[in-house]
Amino acid sequence: MSLLVAEGLSAGYDRGQVLHNITFEVAEGEITVVLGANGAGKTTLLRALTGLIRRSGHLELDGVDLMGLSTEKIAARGVAHVPQGRGTFIDLTVEENLRIGAHLRPRGEKREIARWYEHFPRLGERRTQKAGGLSGGEQQMLAIARALMSSPRLLLLDEPSLGLAPKVTQELFASLGVINAESGATIVVVEQNAHLALDIGSSAVLLEAGRVVSSGPADVLKANDDIRRAYLGG
Ligand SMILES: Nc1ncnc2c1ncn2[C@@H]1O[C@H](COP(=O)(O)OP(=O)(O)O)[C@@H](O)[C@H]1O
Ligand SMILES: [Mg+2]
Repeated sequence: MSLLVAEGLSAGYDRGQVLHNITFEVAEGEITVVLGANGAGKTTLLRALTGLIRRSGHLELDGVDLMGLSTEKIAARGVAHVPQGRGTFIDLTVEENLRIGAHLRPRGEKREIARWYEHFPRLGERRTQKAGGLSGGEQQMLAIARALMSSPRLLLLDEPSLGLAPKVTQELFASLGVINAESGATIVVVEQNAHLALDIGSSAVLLEAGRVVSSGPADVLKANDDIRRAYLGG
């Protein structure tokens, strides 16, 4: 079943249109990756999904039309967005960051925090430290854990691997796999590295210059000759 359906979605900025007629679906409970080179429109797509920019077309979450809804209302419907970069409050402690994430779901906050410390033990060890003092990978884990504090139906992650060492990225993506398997959270993750993306995702959407050039099950995209040549090095 599709949790999110986008049909003919177009969006952009004052300077001009960036996304053209984007159509794709996100299956409930799965990890979908959005793949594409720098400037392809991946970040813009996540912004369009959460209503941060002007968009047109059709967009629904679990049958509910999102086009008329504000970013706040879309968040309240269970869409959590971790923007590109380190989305943490650097002057607050790890635990304070997580408590901010609980604002949509204040009851059960302590239990939820304990749960994410279990998933990301390094955050638990550093719970009283300022987020700004964490490593890049730890800050990314914190940003993701904070978004998960609201038990979202759909988690949107914009290039969580950006600037991380390959080993840290592997760890982070392994955590995402566990979180997806355990909680059934539906995840859309933007990733530039096609190898990684097609390994972690069950489906993928490939963007080029603001258009979907390919989409479908990750293993089908992996086997596609054009995609192999252009994105997987042969
Ligand atoms: N805030 C913005 N204002 C105007 N143009 C933007 C803005 N952000 C991105 N763009 C333009 O939109 C296009 C797609 O950018 P982006 O969505 O950031 O790509 P990606 O995330 O795939 O690297 C680029 O041409 C970029 O210059
Ligand atoms: Mg981007």
